[in-house]
Amino acid sequence: MTPEDALAALAWQVELGADEALGEGPVDRFSAPASVPTTKVESPVASVKPAPAPEGAASEALAAGCANLEALRATMAAFDGCALKKGARSLVFADGVPGARVMIVGEAPGREEDQQGLPFVGASGQLLDKMFAAIGLSRKADDATHALYITNTIPWRPPQNRDPSSDEIAMMMPFLERHIALAAPEILVTMGNSATKTLLATTTGITRMRGNWSERNGIPLLPMFHPAALLRDPLKKREAWADLKAIRARLG
Ligand code: URA
Repeated sequence: MTPEDALAALAWQVELGADEALGEGPVDRFSAPASVPTTKVESPVASVKPAPAPEGAASEALAAGCANLEALRATMAAFDGCALKKGARSLVFADGVPGARVMIVGEAPGREEDQQGLPFVGASGQLLDKMFAAIGLSRKADDATHALYITNTIPWRPPQNRDPSSDEIAMMMPFLERHIALAAPEILVTMGNSATKTLLATTTGITRMRGNWSERNGIPLLPMFHPAALLRDPLKKREAWADLKAIRARLG
């Protein structure tokens, strides 16, 4: 971490209200570390699956045939089964370091992401970078230990930034599944309602889901508030900081 990064991380923590060297409760440093309870979600896709559209079946077969991330990117770029592609300028596949210990899954690209072809580069993305820098992680790190890998549930910008429909999500789900399998992170972090509901097949909202570890196909998963929600409601940053600390603790 550079001195500038360290100062940015400190400023972020002060902004969150972490301006005292005290935790919320006493810490018994002599007791054995408690194991973190997790909820198992083995096959979320099964319940997310819609009545299988022919294109959905096609995306499943295409995704399954991709042996590496480059093949997956090329296959998604050539995929014409999702109408969102027609209105978008770029395929927003991923950013960061493949092989990173932490993989972030957001919802869908916005205007800046569509322009640059990279996820989380607008205002939300800048906040996301600050948040993870505060726990020593960056999409620009040159080693997997300090790196992030970032993608979205949907790779094309929906018109007027509307929410992706459940059909669109279901159609692209096999690609996301394969993306996660090929990136093979140690920890998944879902940002906001849409990604959390998609990967955990839950209808429970993010306010109740955030901060609770689940497991998705054997990978620990932590839902967090979307950075856009933190920009709208800075009071949520305190919970976001708790979640970031939980990620840091889980990484050991
Ligand atoms: N919001 C997201 O969920 N993803 C992005 O890439 C940008 C904003």
